[in-house]
Amino acid sequence: MDPANQLPSGGTFQVLKLPLGFIRVLEWLFAIFAFATCGGYSGQLRVSVDCMEKASSNLSIGIAFAYPFRLQQVSFEAPVCEGMRRERVFLIGDYSSSAEFFVTIAVFAFLYSLVATIIYIFFQNKYRENNRGPLIDFVVTVVFSFMWLVSSSAWAKALSDVKMATDPDEVQLLISACKVQTNKCGSVHGPRWSGLNTSVVFGFLNFVLWAGNIWFVFKETGWHKGASRFASGSSEKQGGTFTQQPYSQGSFDQSGSYNTQGNFGQPSEYSQVGGATSYSNQM
Ligand SMILES: *[C@@H]1O[C@H](CO)[C@@H](O)[C@H](O)[C@H]1NC(C)=O
Repeated sequence: MDPANQLPSGGTFQVLKLPLGFIRVLEWLFAIFAFATCGGYSGQLRVSVDCMEKASSNLSIGIAFAYPFRLQQVSFEAPVCEGMRRERVFLIGDYSSSAEFFVTIAVFAFLYSLVATIIYIFFQNKYRENNRGPLIDFVVTVVFSFMWLVSSSAWAKALSDVKMATDPDEVQLLISACKVQTNKCGSVHGPRWSGLNTSVVFGFLNFVLWAGNIWFVFKETGWHKGASRFASGSSEKQGGTFTQQPYSQGSFDQSGSYNTQGNFGQPSEYSQVGGATSYSNQM
């Protein structure tokens, strides 16, 4: 009996206990955190301009900004400290390309890991057909790992620039009244950064997840099988190296192959899955 053919029953979600499926679900969750914390951000800072003529002072000037951080479009009104005149002041910098790149990668990674999980669960036979599924999966996983690294790095750099550009002490330098010694300018409060710091952390966490998953997708392609034909023992060496990795231990110690062929010389994961299936069938 081929356990793969009777999967779509009670044992279906056993796939999620395998490293590949489990990591895909984590990727999916972490991608949501990454784009939600970045794309949903809005922050505010507040400065005060205390003119020598008290009447024209404004001690609470709020400046709000949000994703995608086109700061050069963010403006506020500040007193000029000459009568009741005011000037419109703009912040400096446009960080939208990095922010939008990061969110775009996160959204596409979210969609891909969602679709991949569904395919692992419901279309395993199709996934394995002609080895096309694992092949595409491998290429896409490598590309996304690289994209997570690039976009997270770009976003981390942009975020540090945004922090600089929205620092109340820096913003005061843009207000002409603050250049006059007799007026006093101060910062009331700066923006909260916890949300955006979280998005950077999740960006790099996603990189680690996707890069780690390259190994498990690689196993599905069966390429290591071909390589070991040329240099026998090299695949064993590879396997040995990876079992020392932390994620190969603990909950991942099933060493992740659900190849029916069992071509890695290991007991097939499908036999476990099938076992669970027949168990649920008995019930
Ligand atoms: C101070 O500036 C804020 C805008 O941040 C404005 O709403 C408020 O009316 C100003 N106050 C005075 C006294 O001009």
